Amino acid sequence: MTLQDKRILLIISGGIAAYKSLDLIRRLRERGANVRPVMTAGAQAFVTPLAVGALASDKVFTELFSREDEQDIGHIRLARDCDLILIAPATADLMAKMANGLADDLASTILLATDRPVLVAPAMNPKMWAHPATRRNHATLVADDIRFVGPASGEMAEGGEAGEGRMAEPLEIVAAVEALLEGGPKPLAGRRAIVTSGPTHEPIDPVRYIANRSSGKQGHAIAAELARLGAQVTLVSGPVTIPDPKGVTVIRVERAEEMRDAVLATLPVDIAVMVAAVADWRVAGTSGDKIKKKPGEAPPPLQLAENPDILKTVGHHADRPRLVIGFAAETQNVAENGRAKLERKGADYILANDVSSHTGIMGGDRNTVKLIGRAGEEDWPDMGKQAVAERLGRLVVSHFS
Ligand code: C5P
Repeated sequence: MTLQDKRILLIISGGIAAYKSLDLIRRLRERGANVRPVMTAGAQAFVTPLAVGALASDKVFTELFSREDEQDIGHIRLARDCDLILIAPATADLMAKMANGLADDLASTILLATDRPVLVAPAMNPKMWAHPATRRNHATLVADDIRFVGPASGEMAEGGEAGEGRMAEPLEIVAAVEALLEGGPKPLAGRRAIVTSGPTHEPIDPVRYIANRSSGKQGHAIAAELARLGAQVTLVSGPVTIPDPKGVTVIRVERAEEMRDAVLATLPVDIAVMVAAVADWRVAGTSGDKIKKKPGEAPPPLQLAENPDILKTVGHHADRPRLVIGFAAETQNVAENGRAKLERKGADYILANDVSSHTGIMGGDRNTVKLIGRAGEEDWPDMGKQAVAERLGRLVVSHFS
């Protein structure tokens, strides 16, 4: 039993998805976990403490200022006497409270008082999930090292509306709990992975360079996800402004040639995911001194030279990793170009995306990709870059199992 004797404090907040928490409790207990439930007032409008208590291995806690509860187990002990706090479903309201450090009921007080890992399974209307306020709160919580599972895309329980906001399925939540808790399955344990991310900067002279709009968000999320799944990950990153992912060895480079050298130095590895937007060209004969503007003279010509293709080099290398994955940022004929790239570069999969400026993918938080493999193609719905990383992580795991 993968969660044997793990103590999980399950916070259920108000939402129709609360009915799924009953199944979630059952799944967690099947795996040996002890589940101590806390319900907000809103949650009790959807499922009864009686039903939750009957399935859990503990009494249900609901009140912050209950003399009986506080004498029994105070809120500080509730916050600390567990291996993990899981919030499922988590409402937009509870996320807002967490992001701002509010503590006006038992659940929010526990969340402010805890020093345990916290995993959040949000569930809300797609418009609420997409609202700038929720986006801000989500970003704040991620920066506070709060973990998320879901939400998924699809039909809302209340019907009529579709989009991102549906709570992740209980088994998916259980898998996230297992992955978070030490001793949980690390399906990529023992595997080594190399990931490239970000743009490259190709110098023109000591102060100027050629670059592109890559933020590194997608590559960094993939590196973090592979590490979370147990792989030993080296991330070779061009210049980015986002923080280093946790649990990953980061090598910072500027130029494509440096990136290639760093990547080749890590071989042999099992998995290569080349996400970096490597500049196709560098400036031939860069100037050691700043090129001066001279009045009356024509602008200096820029002579370009082709950069090494890192993905292609890795895809055809004698030490080729068992799994080689590339990206294809396209503005037209996404599928054809992606398929051609799969062949040319010797990759197993290409994740092709349309980076026309109207898509906002370059630098943004979301991505719409088409997965192109030897066996066929698959359109992934528009989703967050984190969700793309998780789905790719599952693909990698399936390849090795
Ligand atoms: O040919 P294109 O740049 O569209 O190919 C994109 C894929 O190839 C990405 O996975 C990118 O990281 C990789 N690539 C590379 N080295 C290059 C150019 C692209 O690794 N010089």
